[in-house]
Amino acid sequence: MGFGQSSIRSFMILIFLFSYRQVSVNGQNLTEGFYSVACPLAETIARATIRTYFLVQPNIAPGLLKLHYSDCFVEGCDGSVLISGPNTERTADANLNLRGFEVIEDIKRQLEVVCPGVVSCADILALAARDAVVLTNGPSWDVKSGRKDGRVSLAANVKNLPSLSHSITVLLNNFAALGLNTEDFVALFGGHTIGTAACRFITDRIFSTIDLTIDPLFLAQLQSSCPINGSGSSRVALDTGSELVFDTSIFKNILNGRTVLKTDQILLTNPMIYRMLQDFVTFQRFNTIFTRAMAKMSGIGVKTELNGEIRRNCSKVN
Ligand SMILES: *[C@@H]1O[C@H](CO)[C@@H](O)[C@H](O)[C@H]1NC(C)=O
Ligand SMILES: *[C@@H]1O[C@H](CO)[C@@H](O)[C@H](O)[C@H]1NC(C)=O
Ligand SMILES: *[C@@H]1O[C@H](CO)[C@@H](O)[C@H](O)[C@H]1NC(C)=O
Repeated sequence: MGFGQSSIRSFMILIFLFSYRQVSVNGQNLTEGFYSVACPLAETIARATIRTYFLVQPNIAPGLLKLHYSDCFVEGCDGSVLISGPNTERTADANLNLRGFEVIEDIKRQLEVVCPGVVSCADILALAARDAVVLTNGPSWDVKSGRKDGRVSLAANVKNLPSLSHSITVLLNNFAALGLNTEDFVALFGGHTIGTAACRFITDRIFSTIDLTIDPLFLAQLQSSCPINGSGSSRVALDTGSELVFDTSIFKNILNGRTVLKTDQILLTNPMIYRMLQDFVTFQRFNTIFTRAMAKMSGIGVKTELNGEIRRNCSKVN
């Protein structure tokens, strides 16, 4: 019996080590310049294509940043968010406003001509997120590559995406389970410096149960920008006054009560997070932590040959 118990204990420890490994080795197999030999033009083609779209449609930048985030938090950074069809991640309510699919498809189409079957859709998403930040005057960083594309995309799994209705504890636990700490959480939240929210996500706090912590003038502004009951496709900037520039005014806005999302307000209630918001008003500090957090996020649940592939078409498995 003693033997049995100790085997069980060893087994439990093995399971623990294995699951710990899963988290701690996020992105372990990714490398910088992964395509420098097999597809030297990969990063250049991606960057040029994104720039072309951005010049015509600047809000493609926040779209691409969000797309990578929405990919990584569900099934890992494996391009699962790109797969189309019934009951895929794309069809989940939380993903209905995602944009930028056509940009990724366009890059993929070009790469399949110059180096067929080499560059994964998951890597294109990671590169696109970085290029989107750079195009809006944000910091740059080296994106490690070598991700394989996943074969599973289920709407039901989108419940793992951190939701605006979650409490701060739940949100921080979600992030921690993926190896991201509180500072990473606040820095990634700062990605809202570019981008907009659909009115339907804020109708409640600006019309029904009005959030009295919102700056009154700003509340009036939000109410006039959003049709009552959040119908239609109206959107509001998350970083009012600076929504197309990657800067730190999002933190000033939140600290001054110009909060758009319920989560903006919740951030203010946690003393440790409050200090971080103040810290991140300094651009240099924010850049350092943001780029580090992005590199960590881009390594979540990366797939290998064992459970992934290089998709030929980002919208469907091979
Ligand atoms: C890294 O790659 C090797 C070789 O493909 C593979 O055997 C190993 O499982 C990978 N490690 C992780 C953590 O994905
Ligand atoms: C908004 O929605 C509520 C509940 O659905 C409804 O009672 C109200 O009449 C609506 N207001 C407008 C202006 O449509
Ligand atoms: C990729 O697949 C989608 C969905 O089947 C299709 O509409 C699209 O034309 C394909 N793209 C290419 C480049 O073949």
